[in-house]
Amino acid sequence: MQTILITGSSSGFGLATAKLFLARGWRVVATMRRPNDVLPAQPNLTVLPLDVTDAGSIAAAVAAAGPVDVLVNNAGFGGLAAVEGMDMGQLRAMFETNTFGTFAMTKAVLPQMRARGAGVVVNVTSSVTLLTVPLLSVYKASKAAVNAFGECLAEEVAPFGIRVVTVLPGRAPGTRFGEASRARMTGAEIPEAYGAMAQALFANLTGPGPVTEAEEVAEAVWRAATDPAAPLRIAAGADAVALMG
Ligand SMILES: NC(=O)c1ccc[n+]([C@@H]2O[C@H](COP(=O)([O-])OP(=O)(O)OC[C@H]3O[C@@H](n4cnc5c(N)ncnc54)[C@H](OP(=O)(O)O)[C@@H]3O)[C@@H](O)[C@H]2O)c1
Repeated sequence: MQTILITGSSSGFGLATAKLFLARGWRVVATMRRPNDVLPAQPNLTVLPLDVTDAGSIAAAVAAAGPVDVLVNNAGFGGLAAVEGMDMGQLRAMFETNTFGTFAMTKAVLPQMRARGAGVVVNVTSSVTLLTVPLLSVYKASKAAVNAFGECLAEEVAPFGIRVVTVLPGRAPGTRFGEASRARMTGAEIPEAYGAMAQALFANLTGPGPVTEAEEVAEAVWRAATDPAAPLRIAAGADAVALMG
């Protein structure tokens, strides 16, 4: 039985991915900062505490998980903010989770994958990385760095039988992302001079048009995990597919 470890499984894409892989007979290690019973107890499910910004938490979770065939770096948050309204702590916090958390988790599982000569790392970034958008500069940078990381890492670890795939979801208002990101960005100001820009962007992000469902992201992760010929980048959701062209 194959094992998948997913970061940020408490909601949204991570939760949908855990459900899909459980339904398809995998052993799922669903990790979350504060373990809860969002997934009903079942034989192939292990729920572990994991904060991807905490080295001790990463070491403990990876040790408790045992051999991992597929790692999904999904944990993340964002938020609309003008860079001049963010303090360096907020800016760094976004990179700590989205970017350094991904690097740290990948580092933690690569040795065992290399020893077995097999494994897949799936990085969930964002279709925002395909766009030029104001007020998302730090978020886009945190995710674009992961795109770049994944592309080079794919070549670095291919000789050892390990694949690296980047999944780029579109906007998904159905997850907790907006609410969670706003809470984490409390205090990050959008100075008045950027007000009209922020309103237009918010209307655009929340307006009508195609959106991405969490289940579509889970299916993209499934393809990344199970198809040896999967491309380096997979768009998830109609809006992301249209952007990727
Ligand atoms: N929703 C969108 O529009 C959208 C679009 C493109 C890409 N994405 C990306 O997709 C990923 C999943 O987002 P989502 O929409 O499913 O949002 P979500 O419902 O807010 O889920 C985010 C998950 O990340 C977890 N998380 C945050 N910080 C963490 C940390 N330091 N350590 C471990 N887990 C942490 C959250 O856990 P807690 O419950 O503990 O906070 C939660 O489980 C994120 O990387 C996001 O940037 C989202």
